[in-house]
Amino acid sequence: MGLIHTALVLACCGLSRGALEVFQAAPPPRLSFDAPACRQVLFEHSFGNSYGAPYVGQYAPPEGCEFTTAIFNLSVVSSGRQYDRLATLWLGDIEIWRTSTAMPTQSGIHWSFQKDMTIWHPLLTQDQKIIFDLGNVIDGDRYTGFFNVTLEALYYSDVYTTGFHPAKYIYPISTLSSSSNTTSLFSLPGDSGSVNLTLPRNVKNAVISLAASGNGAEEFWFTNVPTEYVNTFPSNEGWLYGYSPFREVQVLVDGQLAGVSWPFPILFTGGVDPGAWRPIVGIDAFELPSFEVDVTPWLGLLTDGQAHTFQLRVVGFDSSAENGIGPVGENWWVSGSMFIWLDDAVEQTVAQSFRSQVAGPAFDFHSSIGIAIDANGSATNTSLYFALTATRNLTVSSIIKSGTETREVTWTQNLSFSNIQNMKDLAFNQSLAMVTFGSHSSSASDVISRYTYPLNLFSAYDVVSSGATTNPGSVLCLADRSKLTDGISSLSFLTGTSIGSENLKTRQNVTSSYHWNSTIVEGTEGLDTMDGEVWLSYSGASSLGAGVAEYSRYAKEKNDSVLVDEQGWGQIPVPSTIPLPYVDGEPIVP
Ligand SMILES: *[C@@H]1O[C@H](CO)[C@@H](O)[C@H](O)[C@H]1NC(C)=O
Ligand SMILES: *[C@@H]1O[C@H](CO)[C@@H](O)[C@H](O)[C@H]1NC(C)=O
Ligand SMILES: *[C@@H]1O[C@H](CO)[C@@H](O)[C@H](O)[C@H]1NC(C)=O
Ligand SMILES: *[C@@H]1O[C@H](CO)[C@@H](O)[C@H](O)[C@H]1NC(C)=O
Ligand SMILES: *[C@@H]1O[C@H](CO)[C@@H](O)[C@H](O)[C@H]1NC(C)=O
Ligand SMILES: *[C@@H]1O[C@H](CO)[C@@H](O)[C@H](O)[C@H]1NC(C)=O
Ligand SMILES: *[C@@H]1O[C@H](CO)[C@@H](O)[C@H](O)[C@H]1NC(C)=O
Ligand SMILES: *[C@@H]1O[C@H](CO)[C@@H](O)[C@H](O)[C@H]1NC(C)=O
Ligand SMILES: *[C@@H]1O[C@H](CO)[C@@H](O)[C@H](O)[C@H]1NC(C)=O
Ligand SMILES: *[C@@H]1O[C@H](CO)[C@@H](O)[C@H](O)[C@H]1NC(C)=O
Ligand SMILES: *[C@@H]1O[C@H](CO)[C@@H](O)[C@H](O)[C@H]1NC(C)=O
Ligand SMILES: *[C@@H]1O[C@H](CO)[C@@H](O)[C@H](O)[C@H]1NC(C)=O
Repeated sequence: MGLIHTALVLACCGLSRGALEVFQAAPPPRLSFDAPACRQVLFEHSFGNSYGAPYVGQYAPPEGCEFTTAIFNLSVVSSGRQYDRLATLWLGDIEIWRTSTAMPTQSGIHWSFQKDMTIWHPLLTQDQKIIFDLGNVIDGDRYTGFFNVTLEALYYSDVYTTGFHPAKYIYPISTLSSSSNTTSLFSLPGDSGSVNLTLPRNVKNAVISLAASGNGAEEFWFTNVPTEYVNTFPSNEGWLYGYSPFREVQVLVDGQLAGVSWPFPILFTGGVDPGAWRPIVGIDAFELPSFEVDVTPWLGLLTDGQAHTFQLRVVGFDSSAENGIGPVGENWWVSGSMFIWLDDAVEQTVAQSFRSQVAGPAFDFHSSIGIAIDANGSATNTSLYFALTATRNLTVSSIIKSGTETREVTWTQNLSFSNIQNMKDLAFNQSLAMVTFGSHSSSASDVISRYTYPLNLFSAYDVVSSGATTNPGSVLCLADRSKLTDGISSLSFLTGTSIGSENLKTRQNVTSSYHWNSTIVEGTEGLDTMDGEVWLSYSGASSLGAGVAEYSRYAKEKNDSVLVDEQGWGQIPVPSTIPLPYVDGEPIVP
């Protein structure tokens, strides 16, 4: 198959400054970044000891510059010893980008990532407080790497073939804390996750976009065990985390379920095996995914001129609860925003025949524990196997009248989930085969959107003292996963930037053997090995001449260097994720 190489291919490697370029395979937001109508650097800031000390500044729209499309270019340089960190970008109380960092080397790394910000047009055309939070630690000893960040905005006056229709208003679903110069993330389960909002009376479309990621004890939620199993291996206490490997992010309107997201399992660049994610970072590491829930079917309730409660909540699986639903651990960082389009032809939106059908989640859970009996007759657990599946179906609909026109508006979701784990060697050897599948359709179009997230992961830790990762040790990690999505974003579709289905297939596999010393964040030259590959193939439905119709990237890495990196404006075949050998050498297949 022919790859069409372009200037884009060469762009990566020219500016090296001796530092290693790290990257995430992702489709660029447009064919070329040339000839913006205007551009401005929004801030440059060095993040050192920056917990609780975000960058806070003032955003002003570019003066005398008419624009439709906006692209933000985030560039980061770092050198020294440092973990991966999470970062969030805010305009006022609204989160517009969640990203994470790569782990630097002593000789330095750099990356740039471009994100299309056009859906945020109502915010970008007004003065705003801009906040970028990247909590980092410099202690002069173990942690020495600063993250030096530059954020630049590029604005284009593009013409959209179906017209440009940005949302009229965007409302935050957050802690509304920008006036105290901090971010507005909810930390769940501790925070309420809720706001009260009074909407205009003539709303035509209402869509909630949410961002949610597990951090702290919830970073590897997909490898967690049901709470009753956390003490399966008492001599390795504290190694296993509870609350199950199932997570559901819920959107509630006045306490009623309006939609859910079964999240993509992010592997950050320090995740499982810090040696595995450089120079190719994990899928979505530089742009954590958001999920959209269409709440248009609720307009009959929401346009009564009264305040309504919008809540974000995260739940897990609890084998002892009657409905299977249980709490989650600390902590989920969650925020959302509600995009509103108005119907100028009416004073008051009228809706009837509201219907909501919610089924599930229906769970199925099996487990088995291997037991050895010692010579003196006492039993020890030698292995843990379990399989958890879940399904859910949800439909909310109503009929909206505008003058003589009526339209049926429906939000439907079907979801399924399977997570199989096998642990040996006190759970230092752990294998996972998981797949999450979701489909949904919204009132914005009749397209059915689908996502599939297979993740196969094997890790074998060899640590000097039991349960400890604070001493030298090593890990062998095998990962093979994909993100397969097909469908429309309601927000892009309603704004007019996209006019049909987008299709993305990406797969990443990696084998890494990493030996850390007491610094933990550094491996050992001469001992560490890693091999990895990434495939990405995209087709879009942009309404712009400058939009990307097709794009692909294939790259291969070995020992912190890139061996192959091919990009083109066409599609490529993306091989499927395959089952990995598990502890006994047998693959487990979901
Ligand atoms: C993004 O910013 C970096 C650093 O300033 C720069 O090297 C790169 O060319 C920029 N990319 C675009 C598309 O403007
Ligand atoms: C980052 O900024 C700090 C402080 O401004 C500076 O000392 C350091 O050299 C910079 N690091 C890189 C990799 O440019
Ligand atoms: C927030 O930051 C701005 C700009 O640095 C400063 O002027 C203002 O006093 C700060 N407000 C609070 C509440 O700290
Ligand atoms: C929303 O309003 C209800 C009812 O007045 C109140 O109990 C609740 O505390 C409010 N929630 C928030 C987040 O302000
Ligand atoms: C074996 O595992 C089960 C389930 O986690 C646990 O309840 C039990 O205490 C364990 N037994 C031993 C001897 O560790
Ligand atoms: C959801 O729908 C699927 C397919 O129709 C079905 O197999 C599954 O049992 C349903 N789940 C629930 C919880 O009703
Ligand atoms: C049985 O033997 C194991 C070692 O094989 C020892 O750890 C355990 O304490 C012994 N239990 C009893 C009751 O003697
Ligand atoms: C754990 O995994 C390592 C690496 O694959 C393997 O050598 C070892 O035999 C495994 N241990 C057990 C108990 O399965
Ligand atoms: C959900 O599943 C039902 C029953 O299988 C099907 O009729 C419907 O089209 C599905 N909807 C979506 C959005 O996948
Ligand atoms: C990744 O998968 C391909 C097959 O699609 C295989 O040839 C390659 O060895 C795998 N690489 C790693 C590091 O597992
Ligand atoms: C840890 O390993 C790195 C890389 O091999 C080395 O540069 C560093 O000096 C080591 N630190 C300690 C404390 O052993
Ligand atoms: C990768 O590193 C290992 C161990 O240091 C070494 O044996 C191997 O030759 C290296 N491979 C390449 C391609 O540099």
